[in-house]
Amino acid sequence: MPRDGRSRPVAYLTRRHTDAVEAAFAEHFDVSVNVGDVPRGQPELIRAMDHCDVMVPIVGDPFDELLFHHAPYRATLIANIGVGFNHIDLSAAARAGIAVTNTPDVLTDDTADIAIALILMATRRLGEGERLVRANRWHGLAPTHHLGHTLRGRTLGIVGYGRIGRAVADRARAFGLTVRWTGRAGGHTPPDDEMAPSLDALLETSDIVTLHAPATPDTQHLMNVERLARMKPGSILINTARGSLVDERALADSLRAGHLFAAGLDVHEHEPKITSALMGMENVVLLPHLGSATEETRTAMGLRALENALQWLAGKPPRDRVI
Ligand code: DGY
Repeated sequence: MPRDGRSRPVAYLTRRHTDAVEAAFAEHFDVSVNVGDVPRGQPELIRAMDHCDVMVPIVGDPFDELLFHHAPYRATLIANIGVGFNHIDLSAAARAGIAVTNTPDVLTDDTADIAIALILMATRRLGEGERLVRANRWHGLAPTHHLGHTLRGRTLGIVGYGRIGRAVADRARAFGLTVRWTGRAGGHTPPDDEMAPSLDALLETSDIVTLHAPATPDTQHLMNVERLARMKPGSILINTARGSLVDERALADSLRAGHLFAAGLDVHEHEPKITSALMGMENVVLLPHLGSATEETRTAMGLRALENALQWLAGKPPRDRVI
């Protein structure tokens, strides 16, 4: 129950959500939505924490130490819509007595699909081809123009073999890729996929490296100058996890020097800003954080956050409690 004894609790949605999600929240809550649909800054989050029972943010909403410093708040739960919660300072939330939930599982397939899309785009130079056509610079098929590389027979190195990493592996095998993996593993490990003895060994032996590790202090710039140099000449880096895993200036240098053939990024180090060195490069695919961007999945994520919020308000342990 809300602390002030009102009959309906109040939820603050930091962005618009699908009609199904907003309607479902409205069945149970008085809902306050940031209809402007762009981040409104921390002062707004602090105000909302004071007026709502449940905060419903997304990646990029900064719930940092400074915000929790203003506790106590009326809000007792941050029901994040998203599996990643690196934008929430968990220790500070715990100290302030605020619980946090996320939305795992429901976005696994869509995110794995985007990783595969990026692998295809980067390997076959699809973004570059599309730009060529739209600029009226295509003069017909020429056998030596615009050559990419064949996927079948190559090795895909997966960094982080959890739900999404394994879903990428499932798809990759159908393209004839051999899968190696390293990092945290969760669940069943298909016998065909080989565990690399170390990250360096994986980088040295993979034609394509795809990142599926969470953003933590340990994974900050996991792909730094040295690690990028360890990747095979002519290989490809894919990132659908979090931008902080890659030192993007070092990545731009590696692409410019021709050490890497291409990169595909759905997430960015300074999101939503794009590292300027990457902007003009033909051999990097840049997507606007589309991993979970389908009507179905965004709805499932929102409903999962609602389920967590309702369990919390009913005094039950939420299904996806992070802290
Ligand atoms: C997640 O769930 O963490 C995605 O990156 C945002 O949709």
